[in-house]
Amino acid sequence: MKLTPPPPLPAAAAPWNRKHLLGLEELSAEDIESILDTSESFAEISRRSRKKVPALQGRIVFNLFFESSTRTRTSFSLAAKRLSADTQDFAPSSSSLSKGESFIDTAKNIEAMGADVLVVRHPTPGTPHLLAKHVKCSIINAGDGAHEHPTQGLLDLMTIRRAKGRIAGLTVGLLGDISHSRVARSNIWGLLKLGANVILCGPPTLVPKAWEQIGCEVAHHLDDVLPRCDVVNVLRIQFERQQGGLFPSVAEYSHFYMMTQERLRSAKEDLLLLAPGPINRGVELTPEVADGSHSAILDQVTNGLAVRMAVLHLLCSRMEPQGQSAAS
Ligand code: CP
Repeated sequence: MKLTPPPPLPAAAAPWNRKHLLGLEELSAEDIESILDTSESFAEISRRSRKKVPALQGRIVFNLFFESSTRTRTSFSLAAKRLSADTQDFAPSSSSLSKGESFIDTAKNIEAMGADVLVVRHPTPGTPHLLAKHVKCSIINAGDGAHEHPTQGLLDLMTIRRAKGRIAGLTVGLLGDISHSRVARSNIWGLLKLGANVILCGPPTLVPKAWEQIGCEVAHHLDDVLPRCDVVNVLRIQFERQQGGLFPSVAEYSHFYMMTQERLRSAKEDLLLLAPGPINRGVELTPEVADGSHSAILDQVTNGLAVRMAVLHLLCSRMEPQGQSAAS
């Protein structure tokens, strides 16, 4: 059988020198654009008939998820496989954590098995940052409590840039539970750095005025701000992180903030509607809106794979000795 060489990877978009991806707050606009440009290259590879490239051959990527996940865990696994890395899921509930082994010792043991990258989701904010201080391998934050979810922020930016051709100058509304949302924080940092106008909209108990201090507009009446938005990102109410009592009832929340067909009539014709998922149909948006022509919800999921390939590739490429690029 004649073996054909694997398709070459496109050249890296810009020099990348970071070891970890912990949040978008610490990235520059150039860093973010570099990831988005590299993600476009990987999106192109995903459209080829042969989708697998040898970029991470010999690398080991561990998923450490201490919270449930459908999209993030699966797409990190698939991204690593498409880059030819070995992947391993760590299952906390059946691990020796239950015998008293510490989190740091657990991570050090996983690193001792040769892990190059740990992808970490944890309910406690700052957990990936703590790990980065104790292990030598790269850490990717896959969501730390209500703090950040950088790859979700990046895939949202990629989806907006693809649909609108730019980020700068757009008015982007983040709707709902801003206080408890790591997706909101990563979106806010990414959007502000790339020059978007950010409106945070929701009940006062979930959208504090303090956000104005970093350059966001804060609004409590969706119907007032919706006509100005080019993009609205509909965030889930994070019941699991709330103490309760932040609004009278889900029905009242939906009355004021659910995205409906009727509300869309006051929006721009080309409004782009995002939702990070999981979505709660009938709470934050109606089924017709979720599946309607404005919605890019499944495009976000597709773009997430390209973003996670790009992040894994960039972090691992910087580990290569000079002259041995992982892309070669
Ligand atoms: N958006 C997101 O992070 O989804 P999962 O919780 O399913 O990973």
